[in-house]
Amino acid sequence: MKPKIGIFGAGWVGLVTGACFAELGHEVVVRDVVPERIEALQAGRVPLHEPELDELIERNHERLSFTLDVEDVVDAPVLFVCVGTPPTYSGDADLTAVWSVVEQLPALEERALLVMKSTVPVGTGEKVRAALDARGLVHVGYVSNPEFLAEGSAVRDFMHPDRVVVGAFTEADAKTVAALYDPLDTTVVHADVASAEMIKLAANAFLMTRISFINEIANVCEATGADVVKVAEGVGLDHRLGPHFLRAGIGWGGSCFPKDGVALKQLASNSGYHFQLLSSVIEVNELQKRRVIGKLEKHLGKLRGKAVALLGLAFKPNTDDLREAPSLVLASRLLAEGAEVRAWDPVADASRLLQGVTFCDSVLEAVSGVDAAVIVTEWDELRGLASDEVRQAMRRPLILDGRNLLDPEETRAAGFVYEGIGRAASPLAALPETDEPERAELEL
Ligand SMILES: NC(=O)c1ccc[n+]([C@@H]2O[C@H](COP(=O)([O-])OP(=O)(O)OC[C@H]3O[C@@H](n4cnc5c(N)ncnc54)[C@H](O)[C@@H]3O)[C@@H](O)[C@H]2O)c1
Repeated sequence: MKPKIGIFGAGWVGLVTGACFAELGHEVVVRDVVPERIEALQAGRVPLHEPELDELIERNHERLSFTLDVEDVVDAPVLFVCVGTPPTYSGDADLTAVWSVVEQLPALEERALLVMKSTVPVGTGEKVRAALDARGLVHVGYVSNPEFLAEGSAVRDFMHPDRVVVGAFTEADAKTVAALYDPLDTTVVHADVASAEMIKLAANAFLMTRISFINEIANVCEATGADVVKVAEGVGLDHRLGPHFLRAGIGWGGSCFPKDGVALKQLASNSGYHFQLLSSVIEVNELQKRRVIGKLEKHLGKLRGKAVALLGLAFKPNTDDLREAPSLVLASRLLAEGAEVRAWDPVADASRLLQGVTFCDSVLEAVSGVDAAVIVTEWDELRGLASDEVRQAMRRPLILDGRNLLDPEETRAAGFVYEGIGRAASPLAALPETDEPERAELEL
């Protein structure tokens, strides 16, 4: 008989973890503190957009339940903590939700295991252990089991992990948690608690470093006439380097990289170490988002009164997550420059975050009458952007491809002025409005 699993937090990590463990045959109870979230889940509605998750929850509804009541969860021998750890004003991780879980635990009589999936600073496990002991919960074990799933492919990532990391204070607790992953046939990295916590932070920081690195190479490519897409292909084929996270673009966003990067930087500085490389990696990312404005100005001059379409708002495709999305920075900068901003995304709703932006239901509506279209998120729907229909709808046929999604030559051949990231730009030419007949010839 598989042990019952309790989960604190019905966000991306909690729901995916819960649904996947239910799929693996466990009875799972997921608890959250937001009534609307739990009501939606109880009514069969999944409150976030994540491929495969709805079907998984539906398929396992007999083994999977949702509750607001902590008492429904705590009879499970294994309790996963999947609550949010957003940044505080100081940049450190805010552990309020983690501590609320520890404080809400009743005086458990049976032995239980608290398993931390939330991303937390190194040293958190020691502190939680001390807090449990101080509350007389010495019989409650503590294990760090950081989560590496990526939004947009979270279910697949959970079911086919590259590795599972288990950091425990005792061998027995490590074995219990590792055994939960037996059906997944993966490598389990056993570590002490602090190292497990650091593995998560280091992995994220390394991925961010690769992105900022290739973005800086892209910027040098632009200055020197090289093409970063070719460069990344040639670099990535080196088996010592590999191809992943070498796609140049307008920078990372999302619920993890921004906050985990700053949290690791602050963790280091709180311990007296200046993490210079990581500081630069973060700064490069900030600048990368803003370079879009300079590129638009290069083609359009001052942006006051110009209309710009932002295509894609979610921080990446296949999610509706807008946390720290580059689109938010771009929209705000464009509005500050006096531009009119029109926006489209197939699933993300930014209407409560962005005032003064016109939200559109279709790509065609978004590009209608604009002086430039910026690909912000590489949604599949945008692969066909370089069409006659779109060109005719735009006031000026300028596409700024922030994700190098389109083929530059094909896009130019379709009559657009095209500029990607780290690749040769269309020659600078006065961009005519579309009702001028020689528009297409100019850029061919
Ligand atoms: N989203 C990702 O891609 C991802 C990937 C790996 C790791 N992580 C980490 O996992 C953690 C959770 O991330 P997320 O994106 O799922 O967060 P989220 O904000 O989507 O969900 C967290 C949920 O926890 C709930 N919560 C807060 N206090 C609670 C309590 N006392 N009991 C029960 N629920 C409570 C919140 O209401 C919220 O619904 C974070 O530490 C994050 O850094 C996230």
